[in-house]
Amino acid sequence: MITLNYKFADSAVVGADNGLDIQKEFDTYKDTIANIILDLNKKKDKPGQWLQWMNLGYSEETVWYVKEYAALVEGRFDNILVLGIGGSALGGLAVTEALLKPCWNFLTKEQRNNFPRVFFLDNIDPDYILGLLDVLDLKKTLVNVITKSGSTAETMSQFMIIKDRLEKELGEEYRKNIVATTDKNTGVLKQIADQEGYKTFIIPNDVGGRFSVFSAVGLLPFALLGLDIDEIINGVKDMDLILKNTDINENIAAQNALIHYLLDTQKGKNITVMMPYSQRLRYISDWFVQLWAESLGKEKNLNGEIVHVGPTPVKALGATDQHSQIQLFNEGPNNKIINFIRVKEFDNVLTIPKIFEYTGIGYLGGKSINDLMSAEADSTRVALSDYNKPTITVTLPKVNGYYVAQLLYMFEIQTAIAGALYNIDAFTQPGVEQAKNYTYALMGRVGYEESANELYRKMSAI
Ligand code: PA5
Repeated sequence: MITLNYKFADSAVVGADNGLDIQKEFDTYKDTIANIILDLNKKKDKPGQWLQWMNLGYSEETVWYVKEYAALVEGRFDNILVLGIGGSALGGLAVTEALLKPCWNFLTKEQRNNFPRVFFLDNIDPDYILGLLDVLDLKKTLVNVITKSGSTAETMSQFMIIKDRLEKELGEEYRKNIVATTDKNTGVLKQIADQEGYKTFIIPNDVGGRFSVFSAVGLLPFALLGLDIDEIINGVKDMDLILKNTDINENIAAQNALIHYLLDTQKGKNITVMMPYSQRLRYISDWFVQLWAESLGKEKNLNGEIVHVGPTPVKALGATDQHSQIQLFNEGPNNKIINFIRVKEFDNVLTIPKIFEYTGIGYLGGKSINDLMSAEADSTRVALSDYNKPTITVTLPKVNGYYVAQLLYMFEIQTAIAGALYNIDAFTQPGVEQAKNYTYALMGRVGYEESANELYRKMSAI
């Protein structure tokens, strides 16, 4: 299983101003945590609680349908183009980057075992969209349009552009190149899909975007790319069993949630840095940033009081950011918790050849680059603790579907528990609505005329 090491966040290592007497806090919060876990598990099946993502590891039906469709289209496409944004893109991006062979899109078809290349289009930059369309042969591209709400402006405008081109190139046959993943009721994508006859996968009720990676949102692209989705689902299930344990001493998600919560609220560590020491895990940080920020950054608590809470997540990459952000992390303000993600065993061991005797670099010859990566992570952690900066380390035995799924699911449960500790609703995102409404107003959506007037008034006053 993946493991959590919090010793370097303990006051015994980083001092009482910057760390916690962790075992004492576990004892103090034992009952609170047990109640939170019980409550989550009790509420998870209730409609409207937005906790259905806790059941995704058990959705055999989805796995079956996803595999069936992947088998049906196997060999037909050279490219998968995922259209989606936020939670509809980041999980897929993080997991495919972790699990596909590095530089996947640059490999030959044979090297990819005939599986397609993959592109995530999660922005609306016209130059980038046109650039991507220049390199994709749409006839050989399966477009997976993903939107839970079914009407997100960014995703649906990308979709309209690409659907139009597909239809012009392929005529009536274009439908076979589209697969939609969406909610069964909300938004217009489901209506379009039904009307036009696209293959459609449903995102279950009460699964929000940032918690949707183990629904068809993630599983479909993973299966289309030849990833072992059983291995992924087994990782989720096994982690779920562990995280049902109400004893904080046995529950790593609860431990990490409590440590982050207390370091933020008691010791001023309101920045959460996510720093994998693995290139393949680098987009896990992007996924985590959205999960942590959108879930925990809230104006009001559950009692309706104005609280403005939420740690600020920051992404970093080891060893790369040792030459960028670590100067700040070491010597700058002591307001961060730095989370390392380590990998015990890389797939390969790469030895540095002994080709130079110069004093400055000769010592590297004959060592493995794996040892260098490990030495750098160890030294950075110790150096940070010399500056009394708290760190947490999560270790994966290997980068594979089983452990990556455990990691993501652990972060999801950690976020839900942290939400309960902050006493906020971790499953809403009211703070993004206002800008969305203004955008609709600016783009002339019917029903948003009042917002448009308000916006123009405000803009002209500045
Ligand atoms: O986590 C969330 O709910 C959001 O980040 C959504 O994923 C994002 O806004 C995209 O929404 P949708 O999937 O409805 O297009």
